[in-house]
Amino acid sequence: MFWLGLDIGTGGSRALLIDREGRVHAGFTAAHEEMMMERPLWAEQRPENWWDAAQAAIQGALNQAGVSGDQVRAVGLSGQMHGLVILNASGSVIRPSLIWCDQRSQPQVDWINATAGADNVLQWTANPVLTGFTLPKLLWVRDNEPENYDCVRNVLLPKDYVRYQLTGEFASEVSDASGTALFDVVNRRWSADMCARVQIPVEWLPKVYESAEVTGVVSPPAAAVTGLKAGTPVVGGGGDQASSAVGNGIVEAGIVSCTVGTSGVVFAHTEMPVYDPKGRVHTFCHAAPGKWHVMGVTQGAGLSLQWFRNHLAPGSDYDALTAEAMQAPAGANGLFWLPYLMGERTPHLDASARAAWVGLTAKHQRADLIRAVLEGVAYSQNDCLEIVEQMGVPVRSVRLSGGGAGSEFWRQMFADVFARKVTTLATQEGSAYGAALLALANEYGSVSEVCKVAIREVSSVEPREPDCSFYRNAHKTYQAIYPALKPVYGLLG
Ligand code: XUL
Repeated sequence: MFWLGLDIGTGGSRALLIDREGRVHAGFTAAHEEMMMERPLWAEQRPENWWDAAQAAIQGALNQAGVSGDQVRAVGLSGQMHGLVILNASGSVIRPSLIWCDQRSQPQVDWINATAGADNVLQWTANPVLTGFTLPKLLWVRDNEPENYDCVRNVLLPKDYVRYQLTGEFASEVSDASGTALFDVVNRRWSADMCARVQIPVEWLPKVYESAEVTGVVSPPAAAVTGLKAGTPVVGGGGDQASSAVGNGIVEAGIVSCTVGTSGVVFAHTEMPVYDPKGRVHTFCHAAPGKWHVMGVTQGAGLSLQWFRNHLAPGSDYDALTAEAMQAPAGANGLFWLPYLMGERTPHLDASARAAWVGLTAKHQRADLIRAVLEGVAYSQNDCLEIVEQMGVPVRSVRLSGGGAGSEFWRQMFADVFARKVTTLATQEGSAYGAALLALANEYGSVSEVCKVAIREVSSVEPREPDCSFYRNAHKTYQAIYPALKPVYGLLG
């Protein structure tokens, strides 16, 4: 028998088939359309495109493994978080989704804080409300597209729209719901207080489950287009970060993960909800029942390198770019990159922050530009790690995953900048793997038991001198740049 994990990412949807021991038998990714960016800091995708890609990914994985749908015992979902999907009375998508990195909703964030009170928001949802979260996006539609808002009957997160297509159920789970600004993270249910104060009908929101609970079964129409068998159970799954943490075995205190995909996330398991008083890292429910996590987010991690490739090195692949970066010395000859291509969450919580190279001279070459990009992302993830540590969350070791973990050069750089051992796992599949493990968890009785069976560390990188000491100082210079630039962000338009 097999278990299927399906991750609705930003760049594509990935389906992964694993066996009972957690071994991967097939993985297939179907790319999504490019994000639509009508204005700077706006980002939209079409939910219908996610569902098309999900079908192709599932079929692709089944074909690759030569497995038929009736050999799949359960399905787990994971997906990009925070996106707004709104459906009308007939269950159709009303407008494209405003996705996680869309930053247009500052006026709505201000309105929420004024209407509900920032302290109440913190008390009811365990987090400050941010422009990236789902609620302010919904209120942006209310304020700017009343004709669309009038049609809203259901509000879903990206993976839960795919669940709706797969099962016909309106359902979500605790980890993804935590990022909506409508969820009572401490009590693991929708916040009636928050919904009442901002006048969002609770009936619009899906039923919430724990991540390994069954939320519905594959419907006959979905079976026909995916190759799965009708009646196959679909478990809650998780937001991509909580799923990725399960896939990285972050289900106990002490091990912290750093996942470098489009975004970059430092993630730590906690037994209880713990908070940064400044709200710079999120406090969300974990995909392990009755557990929580904290996470710090770099909005433009892998996105920085992708942006560089798309616009300044078209046609190059990532290996060629990192090889070129190796020609520049540590510190890129005094050049720094601030990865704030989509504003920034940790540590600045500033939707108006902008990316920049700082320190350019005529001597710099493209190798320096690329190296500075890689270093800037590593500094930014180190900012996240420092805050997690300051909160008293133990950090014994860091497990690196996501596309960024694929580069040996970048892995060493993360170890040097973090001044810690960085490990990678036998299965580098992150979110889709975690989703598959959540589907498998019921066979083992718990999420932590399945992780014990499936997760193995395979490689580790120790920090090296002299780069480690060099980066300790350079990180301080990096941290001095944002406050210096902040006064001009508001003038940029
Ligand atoms: C997490 C977050 C990103 C997205 C896209 O808070 O916004 O990780 O889920 O990967």
